[in-house]
Amino acid sequence: MFDTNNKVIDESRQGEALVIDKTTGEKKLFLESYGCAMNFSDSEIVASILTGKGYSTTSDYEEADLILINTCAIRENAEQRVRGRLRDFSSLKRKNPSLMIGVMGCMAERLKEKLLEEEKLVDIVVGPDAYRDLPSLIETVEGGQKAVNVLLSREETYADISPVRLGTNGVTAFISIMRGCDNMCSFCVVPFTRGRERSRDPESIVREALQLFENGYREVTLLGQNVDSYKFEIRNPKSEIQEVVSFANLMERVALVSPELRIRFSTSNPGDMTDDVLYTIAKYENICDYVHLPVQSGNNEILERMNRGYTREWYLNRIEAIREIIPGCGISTDIITGFCGETDEQFADTVSMMEEVKYEFAYMFKYSERPGTLAQRKYTDDVSEEIKQRRLAEIISLQQKHSSIKVKEGLGKVHRVLIEGISKKSKEMFSGRNTQNTTVVFPKENFRKGQYVDVLATDCTIATLIGKVVSEEFAHS
Ligand code: 5AD
Ligand code: SF4
Repeated sequence: MFDTNNKVIDESRQGEALVIDKTTGEKKLFLESYGCAMNFSDSEIVASILTGKGYSTTSDYEEADLILINTCAIRENAEQRVRGRLRDFSSLKRKNPSLMIGVMGCMAERLKEKLLEEEKLVDIVVGPDAYRDLPSLIETVEGGQKAVNVLLSREETYADISPVRLGTNGVTAFISIMRGCDNMCSFCVVPFTRGRERSRDPESIVREALQLFENGYREVTLLGQNVDSYKFEIRNPKSEIQEVVSFANLMERVALVSPELRIRFSTSNPGDMTDDVLYTIAKYENICDYVHLPVQSGNNEILERMNRGYTREWYLNRIEAIREIIPGCGISTDIITGFCGETDEQFADTVSMMEEVKYEFAYMFKYSERPGTLAQRKYTDDVSEEIKQRRLAEIISLQQKHSSIKVKEGLGKVHRVLIEGISKKSKEMFSGRNTQNTTVVFPKENFRKGQYVDVLATDCTIATLIGKVVSEEFAHS
């Protein structure tokens, strides 16, 4: 999705990466992000805060005065990776004792002060709602002490901070529309690491989208843990509610910024996704026909134990609504194998759910017990590693089959593609995505990044369509 030079490793799904653009300043900041798109977006806020305090970003950690790792806590291996990375940095600290190392994000929030004891190298621990405090935390460390701020907030949305775009291709960007999560899925650490749900002022979101558009960006992804519960009350000077902006209203406002600006969003929640949102997607050509709808399991008892708030039947009804209201819509999902107590029969329901829906794409994981979550307190993590792995392998191979069927359905059709950059496989090809989020590659000819083209797909690999441009659209300079 991005060019890489400094990396964001997506532990929540297998997303890609972040490059640090150089900004100017006296001191050098090396920022590395793990986790979801939301973390990626937070790193851009942190870069903005610290750029204002005389830091410039660098992609070479050897020359850094400050190293910040934006961490994920969603599964145990996400945390292990960060610990390994901290060990890599230990030799640097021996060479350069004034080097500061900070841990931010979900792992910082989960472990708090304990992280200072466990990882002696760390000087700063800062949680997702405390980034404005970073300059003062840095001062504390400069004064010879360790610094921690892991306070969660009910209001912080960083609405007024204009993110410094990191690792950008100059065409696609993330906009954070809300923070936190009130869902309390029993397996999930996020409500504990990111706090209560709060929505960002729609005017600041539209302003950010407009600014991006004016700077040449052509696609924004609206980010939230549960975008369907976005809700902002606009009040008049007397503090009376003037208008309540829903997610559907917000998407509409962003779609109206320009018909040339594509809108995507993540993540939808099956329990909360309304037809309203679907009709809005259908109404606007520039809102992409793609929904990521995590199912987690196809079995009702497991869904209940996961505290997901919907049943298999409800979920399938939502899929039906998507297919009816947005014909041809791309649908992807998240699935967990081996949740507490999952039997072979219950797992078979997940397999049959996949058969029934035939997702374009799925992110699949083995259950990883997280300390402090509802599941950890209430249920036993009793499915063996071997069974979790076997079930995971089974659904991965099934999904590959489905993905390949879905990609083939695109053959012989014309796809509108936003050019995002050079294809990873060949310098002679451009790469972009169609509205359903499938990657499409085609010969570069004289086309430009950021341009829309119509591509006739003539060939494919397991996940990518290959074709040739048949006409140009919105071909402005
Ligand atoms: N173990 C495994 N997978 C998890 N996810 C969230 N928590 C866990 C966990 N404890 C997965 C879910 C979620 C995605 C972001 O990560 O599928 O949708
Ligand atoms: Fe990881 Fe935190 Fe993002 Fe969840 S919210 S995926 S724990 S970084």
